[in-house]
Amino acid sequence: TALAVVCPKTTEEVSCVVRLCAEHQIALIVQGGNTSLCAGASPDTSGQQIILNLRRMRHLRQIDADNACMICEAGMPLAEAQDHAEEAGLLFPLSIASEGSATIGGTISTNAGGLNVLHYGTMRRLVLGVEAVLADGSVWSDLRQLRKDNTGYPISSLLAGAEGTLGIITAASLSLSPRPSSYTTVMVGLDDPDQAMEALRKVRQLTGEAVTAWELFNHVSADILAEAPVGKTLPLARAHPWYLLGELSNFGSDASRGDELIEALASVFDEIGLDDAVPAQSEGQRADLWALREAITEAERACGTSLKHDVSVPISAIAGLARDMTAACAKLNPDLRLNVFGHVGDGNLHVNVLPLKRGEPIPAKLTEDATRMIYDATHAAGGSFSAEHGVGQTKLAEMTRYKDPVALQTMRRIKTALDPDNLLNPGRLLP
Ligand code: MLT
Ligand code: ZN
Repeated sequence: TALAVVCPKTTEEVSCVVRLCAEHQIALIVQGGNTSLCAGASPDTSGQQIILNLRRMRHLRQIDADNACMICEAGMPLAEAQDHAEEAGLLFPLSIASEGSATIGGTISTNAGGLNVLHYGTMRRLVLGVEAVLADGSVWSDLRQLRKDNTGYPISSLLAGAEGTLGIITAASLSLSPRPSSYTTVMVGLDDPDQAMEALRKVRQLTGEAVTAWELFNHVSADILAEAPVGKTLPLARAHPWYLLGELSNFGSDASRGDELIEALASVFDEIGLDDAVPAQSEGQRADLWALREAITEAERACGTSLKHDVSVPISAIAGLARDMTAACAKLNPDLRLNVFGHVGDGNLHVNVLPLKRGEPIPAKLTEDATRMIYDATHAAGGSFSAEHGVGQTKLAEMTRYKDPVALQTMRRIKTALDPDNLLNPGRLLP
């Protein structure tokens, strides 16, 4: 429900809209690809908020291969930004399942993570600077493409992850990386999540910085992938309780390095006793393995409305968390199906509770108990209740419960300084 949807095409138009809204005290909800998993981009139900959708602002303003940098407008879909980098012989490494729709502005505003964070970091690390319209309509711009600038508060970094509450990002300069010459991608069956982490440590010892993705998923993910409507089966010889999808990147031009990476993986899997592994033999097979991983959310959605969690803990605690959550949820209700998958290489898991019956709502008491148990265990392990999806409107209660009160107070002071009338994305991020 919105008063209107406004689709500006330039930064000046965004600034005009913000000035008008400030004059009339109308709140703005900023929208990119509308793929938020915590209602970050939907207006409230009052019908009094305006949606500012940035999808028409999608130009590539500049790409400089020598400086390994490009300037993209906020409404450009992430996949398009990746294509521009590729055309220049470089890599924009942020990769998430929704990259065909999610936009540059949205992925910065939520500090998106995804599949390659263990090597390249989250979106905030890939941003050299942003251009943003502030709450009074003024345009603040730092698109200078600098790797070093020690002249005060890092405002671009502050806007990354601010969920549009401090300013509306209209463009960004993004840091690009060298393109790997080849990838070594493998899926392997596991008995236990510890095996994934032991393998990660050992493979890293053998290959240095070559590991660029390390994704875990459980038998429930495999089951729902096999069910309609996704209907995809894993290419392994038999079923396992857990699975790992790992990828190593060959950054040199030496093709034989690819063989070395395969040998390193094979020797580690041998040592740990993992005997059911499938390496991708071609770019097509690599794409097929990734398509399985990226279809997990779609397969989950087909089961009905699930209860999603996006938690992070120190990498050393992630295998224990996966195991303990599974055991504790089984105790809550033995029929409960827990879809556990995620980016264990950086300590982030999605621990998602599926409806007991396809399409039926999860009972309120079970929702409450499972969520409390998952977040309390995460908090006790020194973790976060929102690793990469953000807070939006759906995790405000957790902000109050788990966020350090001094941090919350500091955030409120910053918000008041930059948006005193609370007109930019009110009702999200800050409880
Ligand atoms: C993913 O890793 O695929 C997303 O963050 C997922 C989700 O929880 O749906
Ligand atoms: Zn994820």
